[in-house]
Amino acid sequence: MFNKFVSFLVLFVTALSGIAQPREAIDFNGGWSFTLADDLQYRRAEFSAANWKKITLPHDWSIGFDFGEEHPAGNAGGSLPGGVGWYRKTFSLAEKDKGNQYTLHFGGVYRYAEVWINGKYLGKHINGYLSFEHDLTPHLHYGNEENVIAVRVDNSLQPNSRWYTGSGIYRDVRLEKRSPIHLLRAETFITTPEVSADKSTLRVQTVLNQTMPGKSGKLHLKLQDKNKKLIAEQTLAFSDSQFDQELSLGRVALWSPESPTLYDLSISLLDNSDHVRDELTYQVGFRHFHFDEEKGFSLNGESYKLLGVCLHHDLGALGAVFNKSAAKRQLLIMKDMGVNAIRTAHNPPAEEFLDLCDELGFLVQNEAYDMWAKRKNKFDYHIDFKEHYIDDLVRFVKRDRNHPSVFMWSIGNEIREQFDDTGIAFTKNMSEVVKKLDPTRPVTAALTETNYDKNFIAQAQALDVLGFNYKYFDYDKLPTEFKGVPLIASETTSALQTRGVYDPLQDTIQLWPASSKDKFVTNGNTDFTVSAYDNVAAYWGTSHERAWLEVKKRDFLGGIFVWTGFDYLGEPVPYPYPARSSYYGIVDLAGLPKDVYYMYQSEWTDTEVLHLLPHWNWKEGDLVDVWCYFNNANEVELFLNGRSLGRQSKTDDQLHAAWKVPFEAGELKAVKIKDGKGVQEVVKKTAGKPVDVIVDIAHDRYAVDGTTDLYFLTVSLVDEHGTVVPDNDMELSFIPQENIVVIGTDNGYQADLNSLRSPKRNTYKGLGVGIIKKENISNVGKILIKTDTFEKEVTIK
Ligand code: GAL
Repeated sequence: MFNKFVSFLVLFVTALSGIAQPREAIDFNGGWSFTLADDLQYRRAEFSAANWKKITLPHDWSIGFDFGEEHPAGNAGGSLPGGVGWYRKTFSLAEKDKGNQYTLHFGGVYRYAEVWINGKYLGKHINGYLSFEHDLTPHLHYGNEENVIAVRVDNSLQPNSRWYTGSGIYRDVRLEKRSPIHLLRAETFITTPEVSADKSTLRVQTVLNQTMPGKSGKLHLKLQDKNKKLIAEQTLAFSDSQFDQELSLGRVALWSPESPTLYDLSISLLDNSDHVRDELTYQVGFRHFHFDEEKGFSLNGESYKLLGVCLHHDLGALGAVFNKSAAKRQLLIMKDMGVNAIRTAHNPPAEEFLDLCDELGFLVQNEAYDMWAKRKNKFDYHIDFKEHYIDDLVRFVKRDRNHPSVFMWSIGNEIREQFDDTGIAFTKNMSEVVKKLDPTRPVTAALTETNYDKNFIAQAQALDVLGFNYKYFDYDKLPTEFKGVPLIASETTSALQTRGVYDPLQDTIQLWPASSKDKFVTNGNTDFTVSAYDNVAAYWGTSHERAWLEVKKRDFLGGIFVWTGFDYLGEPVPYPYPARSSYYGIVDLAGLPKDVYYMYQSEWTDTEVLHLLPHWNWKEGDLVDVWCYFNNANEVELFLNGRSLGRQSKTDDQLHAAWKVPFEAGELKAVKIKDGKGVQEVVKKTAGKPVDVIVDIAHDRYAVDGTTDLYFLTVSLVDEHGTVVPDNDMELSFIPQENIVVIGTDNGYQADLNSLRSPKRNTYKGLGVGIIKKENISNVGKILIKTDTFEKEVTIK
């Protein structure tokens, strides 16, 4: 009794006294130790991890290895090892911090993260793509005694995925310090019940973890624009712990991918003396949209085609490690191509990825699962599904429902339950769960079965929009087969390409592999490449041009999600090992666009496009297929060494101009002709021997916070005239000289077996990429890029 009284008193006093600080998110990425070994001793507080590797999170232990055939993940999983690893970190807290609450927040751990604090077990988190947190408060030491966090990560059950997952604590970790009485972030729900040209409302629902002492306090809402101009505020005196408030607003700027205007919302909890006890902040966007079964999609009242790509979570040479500047680079490369929507295939992305989509302007189809109870791989999430899928779905929707970019929820991709009646109950169940937590967004799934009678997910009649993957030849029957439900092309294409490779063109699209009878292509290239003319696809897919044309001409399809925006690790259809990363990307793994990037840019943007392919280093007598992607003009005239080879235009069925040209060394030039006049030109020259490199430092556009920013160096091998040399690759060494750390290197070639973390990389078709960072961001950095015969020092300002 006495004890209870004392603890009540302590709580009461601390709640009302010195810790009147709003919550603080402490970056907890630094100072960890890691070992790729397994021993339960590691959980103990007394254990010394002094000889473990010192690392900074986020961290993916798999990506540091050379690729190898022996790894049980297989080449679909990226040909890299899994295993069990442990992380430890010690930290101390000041005596004065007693009375606060501390939660440790993990953005994502692949997978089976078990966490201990000071030897006490906090639990096991199953889902490898969702964030989770643990309350550390009851177990913490203050003052001189240190605290120890130990995390065991188990990615040893293999194979467990159809793509590369990465292993470890691969997203950010933060320690959240907050008052014992606080707002529950997961319960906070921000919606815009009314959005129109001159009148909008903002609704904020939130919940306190417990009632305030004395049961009263105030909740203060403040909405500001990005210039800190006050748009609206409201203070509510309360005696309860659940709030539902509405702010009536006048004219607000609407959010869209073209104009992603955001406002800052703060929700502050005040005690009766007006001390701020807690505060949550959000970026808010006002937009409204609609799916129509005949007219497709509309945004803010205007008809709007979703021009989307599917993206996996890896960031190329970084592996699964989430880095905001690397993600920003991916997204901006997509934006420049004209993309306005992303499908997060096939799992929840990093929270910071959605922040970027809010800020840069992308509509996000946020996807939960690639499988339900029926497996796609022996050890994938199906083994945990029945026990965890509802909890995980709840966690997912609560985590992401306040992002303006998120506009629909997908409960699954090509789920096997679509083929039998077990699909009905799961679909109903999940749709209901999602809608209860978020009635403002449609629920969808990416389906493959185009016969209603055989599609049990559709038969559940519980989805608001149906997504169909591939099978464009069935598009026209969908509106009658699936009556009354709006439709999107949730996945298309699956064309295959290696950047910079050009094989003689065939008349028809080549299917590699040819059918479901073959696992791999039987007559592919011996060097595991695929031609970058847009005419090779997996047998269930088609070319980029065909897929886009089929969606473009059908208004009832709300939009397209191309498989995929970027190449990703794993799933290297059509080849076996040593192929280890995908061929599907419009952009290669290193972030270098393949030619077809410019087809999309010519169709999806107003940017002036004139892109000529291939390179101009061939043998005398070769008959070369020359293509040109262009826009805003009627035709293109081609010149070889000054002689006109005639004008060509696009057709309703072909989105490029084409010529067959007998090779002759020299200069191939394309001139874009508009209304009879030349308005733009581009030249390809026959390159000589490489004598130098040109280094393009992409940084400013991709900068995010000054501390975790990466620099992407695109290195081109050039001849004495500065022409890129496509047929004489050399090894590049990236050698730090001053204030530089090399994070990784890449060239986009899908069968390069050298570790992506290596500072050495062969160029591929004349190009290579080095990813570096500065040790100290405010100082200049220097790096040497060296080949056998020449070198160049590059200064990073
Ligand atoms: C789809 C699947 C994707 C990917 C793609 C490759 O069927 O949804 O995850 O595997 O095929 O073509």
